[in-house]
Amino acid sequence: MAGGPREQWTSRRGFVLAAIGSAVGLGNMWRFSYLAAENGGAAFVILYLAVTLLVGLPVLLAELVLGRGSQKSPIQALTHYGGRLWKPLGLVFVSAGFLILSYYAVIAGWALRYGLAAIASGFDPNAAERFGEVASGWDAFGYHLAFMAFTVFVVVRGVSRGIERTSMLLMPMLFALVVGLAVYAATLDGASAGYTYYLAADFSKLRSLDALKDAAGQAFFSLSLGMGAMLTFASYLGRDVNLPRASVIIAGADISIAFIAGLVVFPMIFALGLSADVSASTVGALFITLPKAFAEMGCVGRVVGVLFFVALIVGALTSAISLLEVVVSSTMDGLGWSRRRAGVLLGIAIAALGAPSAWSTEILGAVDQVANNILLLGGGFALSIFVGWVMAGPIEEAREGAASFAWFGSWRTLLRYAVPAFLFFVLVYDAIPSTFRTIADLF
Ligand code: PHE
Repeated sequence: MAGGPREQWTSRRGFVLAAIGSAVGLGNMWRFSYLAAENGGAAFVILYLAVTLLVGLPVLLAELVLGRGSQKSPIQALTHYGGRLWKPLGLVFVSAGFLILSYYAVIAGWALRYGLAAIASGFDPNAAERFGEVASGWDAFGYHLAFMAFTVFVVVRGVSRGIERTSMLLMPMLFALVVGLAVYAATLDGASAGYTYYLAADFSKLRSLDALKDAAGQAFFSLSLGMGAMLTFASYLGRDVNLPRASVIIAGADISIAFIAGLVVFPMIFALGLSADVSASTVGALFITLPKAFAEMGCVGRVVGVLFFVALIVGALTSAISLLEVVVSSTMDGLGWSRRRAGVLLGIAIAALGAPSAWSTEILGAVDQVANNILLLGGGFALSIFVGWVMAGPIEEAREGAASFAWFGSWRTLLRYAVPAFLFFVLVYDAIPSTFRTIADLF
């Protein structure tokens, strides 16, 4: 057995930074701003804020309450409050962590590769060709393995010595980098065209329910919700921490970084007249359009580009850590494995599972779709039902360390009715054939 008392964070700040580290990642640095630009700019930002506040935040608090209340990883937390019937849901969470990390580390591997290549020899102006070489095959697999090795290294060192220390060191650096890059981007000629493209409000785009689905999927992915990552982190917390406040800080930081990243990306692209390249809608655009911009900016571009990729890698690493921690901590709690054994063996298994994604960007995209739109949103649905209806005393648990919080009643009401109804709709809407969808879009 992995004996001894449960590991704990050494400071509240450490926990909050680790949770923000989980939230801020590849999802923030590109996907948010891209979705905003596609879906009506500021109109989408407002919709996203509403979804995060009314749906994301309640589920985030639910995860924190479940984790801290049970002091257990997802499977045991659910059975602790709900009985054995809920074990399969815990297994789904752990599998989701497994699956998401398997392709997430592939994308992070691309970033690692770009960052190292830029330091050594700059950015290649033939970015599209270059991406073709980098994104799949043995090269992609190799960097994926390297990235997984970093992730395993941090997790094996433990909650406070590994995850907490890494986050305390890297997260402030990430904030500084992103803000610094946004300030630099503002000085470029053509920055305003970039801002306009990103933020010009077009409310007509919101008439399509696709925007709602995009906002929901992005909110859950970006806040690391629906598969027990936040739950697991909260299981290392003491009773004195104010969970509602922590959830607001985590969500606020996540949204801010996503928003600011858009202020970095679009001005740079527009300053170089590369706007036509933006519409290639895959994650590849991050690895094609921006590197092309960096290449065209010469020496300065090389420095700025390296800093950008460093930020991307840092964000990805602190997110990957939380994904692996869900799997590792569940295996430690459930099978009594040591942290080292769980980290190394599961890390190898996840790295192997990533091989198809490393070989084909189509497979990667397909896995991402399933994880994002089904596993996380479905997981959020189940979590809201669980904490809203099944768990005994969620309000009492949330109140520990937060006596003055006045919103508990509305929190539970949201979890009971509005959140599951909304998520159910979004999930089912996705399965409705497109002819009916057009009709639905009329409303
Ligand atoms: N939130 C991370 C990002 O935006 C991804 C993630 C999802 C991490 C789910 C953990 C759990 O990149």
